[in-house]
Amino acid sequence: MKYYLQVSILLFIFSGCEEIEKSENSSWNLIQEQILAPNCANCHITGTAIYKQSGLDLSGGNAYNEMVNVLPKNISAKDDELVIVSTEGGMKGLSKSFLWEKINAYDREHFLSDHSEYGQMMPPGENFLTDGQLQFVRSWIEAGAPETGIIVDEKILTDSNRYKPAPFKPLPQPKEGFQLHLGPFEVQPNFEREFFHYTNMNLTADMYVNRVEIEMRPGSHHFILYSFLSETPPSDLPNYDEDRELRLNSGGLILSTLRTMQYHQFFAGTQWPRLDYKLPPGVALRLPSKFGLDQNSHYVNRTDSTMIGEVFTNIHTVSESAIQHVAELFSMSNQELSLPPKKVTTLQRTFRVKENTRFGQVFSHAHEKMKEFIVEIDGGPRDGEVIYWTDDWEHPPILNFDPPIEIANGQGLKLIATYDNPTDYTVRFGFSSTDEMMILFGWYYK
Ligand code: HEC
Repeated sequence: MKYYLQVSILLFIFSGCEEIEKSENSSWNLIQEQILAPNCANCHITGTAIYKQSGLDLSGGNAYNEMVNVLPKNISAKDDELVIVSTEGGMKGLSKSFLWEKINAYDREHFLSDHSEYGQMMPPGENFLTDGQLQFVRSWIEAGAPETGIIVDEKILTDSNRYKPAPFKPLPQPKEGFQLHLGPFEVQPNFEREFFHYTNMNLTADMYVNRVEIEMRPGSHHFILYSFLSETPPSDLPNYDEDRELRLNSGGLILSTLRTMQYHQFFAGTQWPRLDYKLPPGVALRLPSKFGLDQNSHYVNRTDSTMIGEVFTNIHTVSESAIQHVAELFSMSNQELSLPPKKVTTLQRTFRVKENTRFGQVFSHAHEKMKEFIVEIDGGPRDGEVIYWTDDWEHPPILNFDPPIEIANGQGLKLIATYDNPTDYTVRFGFSSTDEMMILFGWYYK
């Protein structure tokens, strides 16, 4: 602190107050110019969807005011009483700073497993900040995140070592259950490869699943396992063991693949390279013997060379006698969508239950015009209570409730979704990315 004061006074003498704020080498300026501008500003800049979503413009001089002592937009972080950057200093300041949670690569496993509602790590993907940059930001926050003054040694920035996530390794076979293995497969340079692969599970009876593990090679955007709705006409089921691409090389969508998606029933999935999801004791998901599992992999390759994708999934089963409750998958879909051109529209639809129902997991599904998706309890003593919120159509959080949320007969869940339609035409329900959807997926038991 003393050092910082002295520097300020010297600068004050030589150049006056105004100049201190812009002092070339202040620690904050270094963060702005050497860390935020090159690593963050291409996304976090006014006008982008990311700016709208994150509320952060990190490209220019205002970045300090956008972060320091500002509440996060992320609801879960806000509920945890974090600010983006705290000025409390020391360990406390660090632990109250959402920014540190978002960039601290070394705590990634904790971030992914304990704070799955905190969004992605920044920058997204595997391009973490260097150790020097992390140490520099950390020291700055520990010093109370001042806007002026040199409080961290610039030399720290020369440490260009980078955190490396634990390497991909195949999962061992589950003791009881099945293993699925997709790939290895190629992802062309500068291409988003998304495809489906329908796998025959050869089941003779329904199985009960109480844990799902997924392990993927780096670069995956998401991986989802789908079953099919019970009413799916057999003629509309895909063929086994064929890769059904979603996109042409030109980027256009392939209609025949879109058609196979309309009867999908979400079974399990993740946006993280690793997932280990366990249902509460005594509860298991039913895997219907009538269908196989449609594996859906989406890899994004932003490099100039071919990338290799690969996914292992372990589906752990338990015997029927070991479970008290069968978790059923559901989807609540509002298909009566009509979004007028050049308007922001909010739609509501309540889905009531006819028996007492306990919801263990929910997550929303919509396309890119969705700005906000809220789920409230409708009726009963908890009427109006929000159980789900997201403004992220692309990576909606998958929320787990333990204990589950109990909804009594006659009560329900109210879906409230807001869309912004900037186009000149009315947007309706549909499967292409320019159509919209309003769906809540999840599982429940009675
Ligand atoms: C590829 C685009 C991209 C880059 C690069 C990127 N971000 Fe983000 N950032 C996002 C998106 C999208 C969100 C909102 C979703 C989320 O939190 O995961 C976000 C959210 C955030 C938030 C949370 C804001 C809030 O209030 O909820 C912080 C803090 C943040 N970014 C900091 C950074 C920093 C610091 C960097 C650079 C080291 C960076 N981001 C680089 C896309 C990006």
